[in-house]
Amino acid sequence: MLTTLAVANYRSLRDLVIPLGRLTLVTGANGSGKTSLYRALRLLAETAQGRLIATLAQEGGFTSTLWAGPETISRTMRQGRVPIQGGPRSKPISLALGFAGDAYGYAIDLGMPSPENPFPLDPVIKGEAMWTGERLSRSSLFAERRNALVRLRMSDSGVWREAMDALSPFDSMVTHCADPADGFELLSMRERMRDWRFYDALRTDPDAPARRPGIHTYTPVLASDGADLAAALATIRAIGDARTLDETIEAAFPGSRLLDDPAGLRLRQHGLLRPLGPTELSDGTLRFLLLVAALLSPRPPELMVLNEPEASLHPSLMPPLAHLLKTAARQTQIVLVSHSAALIAALRETGCCEEVRLEKSFGETAAPDCESPAWTWPKR
Ligand SMILES: Nc1ncnc2c1ncn2[C@@H]1O[C@H](COP(=O)(O)OP(=O)(O)OP(=O)(O)O)[C@@H](O)[C@H]1O
Ligand SMILES: [Mg+2]
Repeated sequence: MLTTLAVANYRSLRDLVIPLGRLTLVTGANGSGKTSLYRALRLLAETAQGRLIATLAQEGGFTSTLWAGPETISRTMRQGRVPIQGGPRSKPISLALGFAGDAYGYAIDLGMPSPENPFPLDPVIKGEAMWTGERLSRSSLFAERRNALVRLRMSDSGVWREAMDALSPFDSMVTHCADPADGFELLSMRERMRDWRFYDALRTDPDAPARRPGIHTYTPVLASDGADLAAALATIRAIGDARTLDETIEAAFPGSRLLDDPAGLRLRQHGLLRPLGPTELSDGTLRFLLLVAALLSPRPPELMVLNEPEASLHPSLMPPLAHLLKTAARQTQIVLVSHSAALIAALRETGCCEEVRLEKSFGETAAPDCESPAWTWPKR
């Protein structure tokens, strides 16, 4: 399980270190930094897929995603005695992301390319570190990258070995030095990160992928766009927790039942003579079914991250959704971003979530109610 997420100089997250629990609810007003936190986790997952730099480029490039405020906000600036201003930098430009858990931790540090770099808009990877346990230290470190040089510590002898001396500044050691023989820990971490799942803006409009006809094939993981909803629900019924599936649908839509129809998704609803298919379901009903399919996956990932899942759901659906989240959190760690008062209240009622409330102060996201876990960034 991940216990800490750390972000530096990414959008409004200038210096944020937050604790993560089994089920973490991230809340906050509009513009407080919730989606930035979701994206920071997503960028870490993209690192394991070799797509970090490309994803940053899609977000507008390094200079757009880099913290746009001053390097530090002094006390006199906060008191309004001097204007917010930049001044000479004391440290190099760095956008850094990292996490730690009970098994291992990882951090990556991105910086400005040198003037001769042919891709001046892309950041370069300046450093990476992987360690065992919750805190980076000289004794817990076992894989380290500084610019193009990667060193690994042998788990049996404890001796450091140079694994690569010319790693491209756009490639991560997580994808390029994960070797089954001597980079086994990197490989195992990479595979676990590749399994993290993200659900954001699951579409329910008339052209939504989830409304297209779909046949029942073995689908233990719902696609991130929900295109294989029918198959994912049928797979839960066949090899997963069919009872919770039926109970959740009954709690959300009393008298309704999902039918086992190989032709696709069919929902029998109270009072109707025939079941309805995916093109006929309401936006809220379809979204709820998408969340059920994601959360009851028969192959639960280590981590699932949901961004504002409650959009278009009526407040009456929040208690069944909260119950479903609580059930899913027994198998998978969940980070949930939401500003729905109804969902927050329903989750508090379950008593199983830890809350991280974000707030913006001087353009910077802070989590004033939680104690920041201890965190050390790798050295450049
Ligand atoms: N490079 C940057 N530097 C500093 N702040 C930035 C940067 N890019 C975006 N921001 C600001 O970061 C803030 C957080 O945005 P984010 O999308 O995470 O908010 P949110 O909490 O998800 O809000 P909403 O509830 O409206 O979706 C916004 O106010 C945005 O203006
Ligand atoms: Mg948002």
